Amino acid sequence: MSFCFNFDVPEQTTNPDGVDGNDLHNRKKVNAAKPVSKNIRQPMLKPAKEHLPLSDLQLAISDAVTETVTIGILPPLHFLNETVFEKTASEREDNEKILSRTAEQRSDLISGVYEGGLKVWECTYDLLELIEKDGETFEGKAVLDLGSGAGLLGILALKRGAGQVHFQDYNSTVIEQLTMPNAILNCQEDDEEKELSQQPLLAKCRFFSGDWSTFLAFVKKEEPELKYDIILTSETIYNTAYYPVLHETLHKLLAPDGLIYLATKSHYFGVGGGLHLFETFVEQRGVFSLNHLWDGEQGLQRHVVALRFKMAKDS
Ligand SMILES: C[S@@+](CC[C@H](N)C(=O)[O-])C[C@H]1O[C@@H](n2cnc3c(N)ncnc32)[C@H](O)[C@@H]1O
Repeated sequence: MSFCFNFDVPEQTTNPDGVDGNDLHNRKKVNAAKPVSKNIRQPMLKPAKEHLPLSDLQLAISDAVTETVTIGILPPLHFLNETVFEKTASEREDNEKILSRTAEQRSDLISGVYEGGLKVWECTYDLLELIEKDGETFEGKAVLDLGSGAGLLGILALKRGAGQVHFQDYNSTVIEQLTMPNAILNCQEDDEEKELSQQPLLAKCRFFSGDWSTFLAFVKKEEPELKYDIILTSETIYNTAYYPVLHETLHKLLAPDGLIYLATKSHYFGVGGGLHLFETFVEQRGVFSLNHLWDGEQGLQRHVVALRFKMAKDS
């Protein structure tokens, strides 16, 4: 099934902090004579929530159709088959109405409603390949899969020895129906018979839904303070209106010597964001240094970059 980007949220009038609104969103709608701010779509606030993996999930995946991706020496990663997931959408709980709306609108994104987490996006595979080549082990590290969708990046970290892995997605439906089942699928392999609560790998995971600002406020309340050694994030910079809150989340949650892996396309047609605009934004903020780890060859407009806190000497 082929999908497209689709924005059906009413336009807002505020220019989000620090974002240059020129030609950021739907290019066709930008009228140079009008104030740029009219064309900015503000992110909606979806309250953050933590989700607990319940045992009926174990039952739900027992006859699920799954796929496996194996990249080089990485452990195999299992996940629910997308097509079957789509086909069974009408039988699933759909409190957020995203399963029905994405099917109706044949859309991969409905800004502020559904942010695309129901499928595995291609830059996830780029980042998996880079991790395979670079040999990141995650051993004992606290890892956040930000904008996790299916959660393959966080699951890899888990399988490679991370001390804890947190998954965050905008949509609770994605977390409950895709991310958690996928995590369970991968944890079960070693420990088929055990109850969920007794599975050691799963005990290292936590799952959150909600938009980045409420997620940040939610986890900042934790004692001791929560900081991540590694933040993995793929295909999350397509909407420039989200840059301020995304940047703030990364800034506040990364450990001082932590590392962010970001996989992205150069440009998201029809949405407006992309690596160049994000790099400019990051540079203007002056908090992180950004290095290219992998750039797709000509015609393959995809990249993996790393962000770290700037050293005092850089600032
Ligand atoms: C295009 S999907 C990518 C999913 C996954 N990382 C992948 O590569 O397959 C973008 C993800 O970013 C997250 N996201 C985007 N905007 C967000 C926002 N404003 N607040 C919270 N999450 C957001 C959504 O959870 C969504 O799953």
